[in-house]
Amino acid sequence: MDQPDLNLNMDFQLTDEQRLISESAREFADREILPRARDSDRAGRFDRELASKLGEVGYLGAPVAEEYGGRGLDYIGYGLIVEQVGRADSSARTVVSVQTSLVAGSIERWGSEEQKREWLPRLCSGEALGCFALTEPDTGSDAANLRTRATKTESGWAISGNKMWISMGNVADVALVFAQTDPAKKHKGLACFLVPTASEGYSSEEIHGKLGLRSSDTAEISLDEIELPDQAMLGEVGDGFKVAMSALDNGRYSVAAGCVGICDGCVEASVSYAKERRQFGVPIASFQLVQELIADMIVKRDAARMLVWRAGALKDEGQPNTVQTSMAKLYATEAAVECANAAIQVHGGAGYVDDYPVERYLRDARVTTLYEGTSQIHKLIIGRDATGINAMVPPSHDG
Ligand code: CAA
Repeated sequence: MDQPDLNLNMDFQLTDEQRLISESAREFADREILPRARDSDRAGRFDRELASKLGEVGYLGAPVAEEYGGRGLDYIGYGLIVEQVGRADSSARTVVSVQTSLVAGSIERWGSEEQKREWLPRLCSGEALGCFALTEPDTGSDAANLRTRATKTESGWAISGNKMWISMGNVADVALVFAQTDPAKKHKGLACFLVPTASEGYSSEEIHGKLGLRSSDTAEISLDEIELPDQAMLGEVGDGFKVAMSALDNGRYSVAAGCVGICDGCVEASVSYAKERRQFGVPIASFQLVQELIADMIVKRDAARMLVWRAGALKDEGQPNTVQTSMAKLYATEAAVECANAAIQVHGGAGYVDDYPVERYLRDARVTTLYEGTSQIHKLIIGRDATGINAMVPPSHDG
C-alpha cells in the first residue's frame, strides 16, 4: 500500500471559513435536527422533510463540485458539518453520509458526464435520495464475494439478486447496485450500476426492530431481472470493487466524523448534568470518579477528532488514506460507544430513559462499529499494512 506523507503541515487551527462552517452547522443542528430527534426515534420514522432541509442548506453533497450542485468543500469542512449533524442525531447523519460519501461522491468520481448531470444536482439539493447496495444476506465483510448477478443482454444488462441492511433503500430514488458479471473473475468481475428504484423488478422491505438508528431507513432489497441499458453502468465492467472501496474510504471518514459528534454530545450532556445534579449536598461534578468519567470522554473525543482531521487532511492533499481512514473509523466508532456508555453512568437512572440524549447515543453508536467495515476488518486493514501479511482470509485447515 502506498504510504502517505505524514509530515503534513498541521497547525491544528481551523481557518476562519472552517470555523464558520462548524458554527453554522452547530446552529442548524440545534435548531432543526435536535428538536425532532427524540420523537422520530420513538416513532421509528424516517424524516423525509429533514432530509430535504439538509439538502436546502447544502449539507448533502457538500464536497461535490459546484458545477454539479455541490459546494466544492474540502474534506475537513465536510467532516466538521458531519460532526455537528452526528452530535444532534445519527439517523440524520446517516442521510448525509450515504447520500454524500457513498452515492454522490461515487457518481462524481466514476460517472460519465451524462450520469453526473442527471443525478448530482438532484442528490445535492435533496430532491432525490440515493442508496448504496453492496451488502447481501450472505456477503458482509467479504465484499468481493457478491451473489447478485449482472447478465449481458442484447440491449444492456439484467440484474438479479438480494441486498441487505441497505440504508435508505426504501426511500431512495436511485440505488448504486454492485453485481457480479463473471464469477470466475472474482472481484475483477464486479460492476456497479445506477438503478432507478422505480425500475420494474426493484422492491424493498423495511427492516424493523433495530437497537438504534430507528429513524434511519434500513432495507432489504430484492432485484428481479431488472433491465438496464449499458449507460447505467458506473465505470467499466471490473471497476465495481474499486468503486465500492473508494466510496467506503469516504463513507468511513464520514461515519468517523459523526462519531466525534456523538463523543462531543456525551461530554456536553454529562458536564451539564453533573453540574446540575446534587447528591450528598453537592453537585455530582464535585466527585473525582465523575470527573474521571468526563475526562476519559474528553480525551477520546479529542483523539478521535485528531484522527479524523488527519484522514481529512490526507484526502484534501490527494494522498493515499485508506489505512488512516480505517484508524479514524475504528477509533472514533469505538470511542463513541465507550463515551455513550460512560455518559449514561454519569446520568445514573436518568440516563436510562430518553429524557436525555445519552441512551440514544449508545443505541445509535453501536451500529457504527459494524457498518462500513466492522472494527475487526479495520484492525485487519491496519495490521496488513503494518506487517505486509494479509490475515483477512484464515489459513486453510487442510494442512
Ligand atoms: N480504493 C480503490 N481501490 C481499492 C481500494 C480503495 N480504497 N482498496 C482496494 N482497492 C483495490 C485494490 O487496488 C485491488 O485492485 P487490483 O485487483 O487491481 O490489484 C482490489 O481493490 C482488491 O484489493 P484488496 O486485495 O485490498 O481487497 P481485499 O479483497 O483484501 O479487501 C476487505 C478485503 C478490506 C475486507 C474489503 O472486502 C472490505 O473492506 N470489506 C468490508 C466491506 C464493507 O465495508 N461493507 C460495508 C458496506 S456499506 C454499508 O455498511 C451499508 C450502508 O448502507 C451504510
